[in-house]
Amino acid sequence: MNGFGSDIREHDAADDGSIDATARVVDPGASVISGEDERQVEVALRPRRLADFPGQPRVRDQLGLVLAAAKQRGAAPDHVLLSGPPGLGKTTLAMIVAAELERPIRVTSGPAIQHAGDLASILSSLDEGEVLFLDEIHRMSRAAEEMLYLAMEDFRVDVIVGKGPGATAIPLELPPFTVVGATTRAGLLPAPLRDRFGFTGHLDYYDVADLTTILRRSAGLLDVRSHDDAIGEIASRSRGTPRIANRLLRRVRDYAQVNHSAGHRVTLHDAREALTLFDVDEAGLDRLDRAVLSALCLRFGGGPVGLSTLAIAVGEETDTVETVAEPFLVREGFMARSPRGRVATQFAFAHLGLEPPPPGGPGTRPDMLPFDEEGTDLPAGRLGS
Ligand SMILES: Nc1ncnc2c1ncn2[C@@H]1O[C@H](COP(=O)(O)OP(=O)(O)OP(=O)(O)O)[C@@H](O)[C@H]1O
Ligand SMILES: [Mg+2]
Repeated sequence: MNGFGSDIREHDAADDGSIDATARVVDPGASVISGEDERQVEVALRPRRLADFPGQPRVRDQLGLVLAAAKQRGAAPDHVLLSGPPGLGKTTLAMIVAAELERPIRVTSGPAIQHAGDLASILSSLDEGEVLFLDEIHRMSRAAEEMLYLAMEDFRVDVIVGKGPGATAIPLELPPFTVVGATTRAGLLPAPLRDRFGFTGHLDYYDVADLTTILRRSAGLLDVRSHDDAIGEIASRSRGTPRIANRLLRRVRDYAQVNHSAGHRVTLHDAREALTLFDVDEAGLDRLDRAVLSALCLRFGGGPVGLSTLAIAVGEETDTVETVAEPFLVREGFMARSPRGRVATQFAFAHLGLEPPPPGGPGTRPDMLPFDEEGTDLPAGRLGS
């Protein structure tokens, strides 16, 4: 190991431009690349009913039961909390809840509700049985949260009239309604708020079979004719995330459209060529992921190495490596967190076509405990989020 100054940064980043982590085709969040376009396509690709929603069988069955029972009783169902990583279908399911109940839906989000008054005006204008979708519910202000507890439990809101010492709270009865909350960070929700949801569904990453179903459906809606193996190839590179799958499908469609005549049916070769062009490899890793793994395997012999050192070696911010690349690499078993830093697994060496380290080498040490937070160079409180 030598010094980790700007020389390494230049060496890594300068040859073909630095890696723009905010414009990744494999970004699971709503993309900044295609912006409004992507949002519109997403709306078009959303399944509208529970029966059309592939994957997440547990959540789907449980939610189906909760909704069917409420409909039979002619009452508003319990409040629903949907949690899970970006791009797995929380917003889609929220829309489905309203559609299944055949009720209108009001859409807002935590960041949009900064004052309790914002929430009061929404709540007081809800119709009976309406669905209130609160996206990013963990980002609501504390005052609004407290108002929401009361509204969810007692269907009541205290409207404050006047200012200062003369202000009075006038209780206002609300008609029954259903809150659907969505969050990528369920752990950040205060317990009293979490407890007011009668049903919580946690969404998990999709397997290739479910992603294949989703992609077939999307291809149909986008009028993309394709061979099954092409769809399977996209599914296996989509990181378990429908949003990424749909995005990759559109890039493959672009490739086929530009390179073939109209009516061409997308082949496995097209899918591979397009995904290679967009730097998404067989395991769904992109350039940033591979840069992190290469640095870890080649420069640091598989580790352990501190996160900040690793970040410098790839010319990225620590935060980018930690929040953008690391979660997927750890989840897929390419990298692990050990008490002394980040470690490449045997799987990482194999993926990069490198000679795996000898038995007992990095990635096989008994003290290699994924998710162990001690001894890393992270600021306190950053891990496990
Ligand atoms: N089970 C599914 N079947 C078909 N398409 C899906 C499914 N889940 C998600 N999608 C598609 O993926 C895209 C993203 O889904 P959605 O917006 O519901 O994710 P999200 O969990 O709300 O993400 P975020 O946390 O970023 O808000 C949408 O285009 C949607 O159509
Ligand atoms: Mg959403």
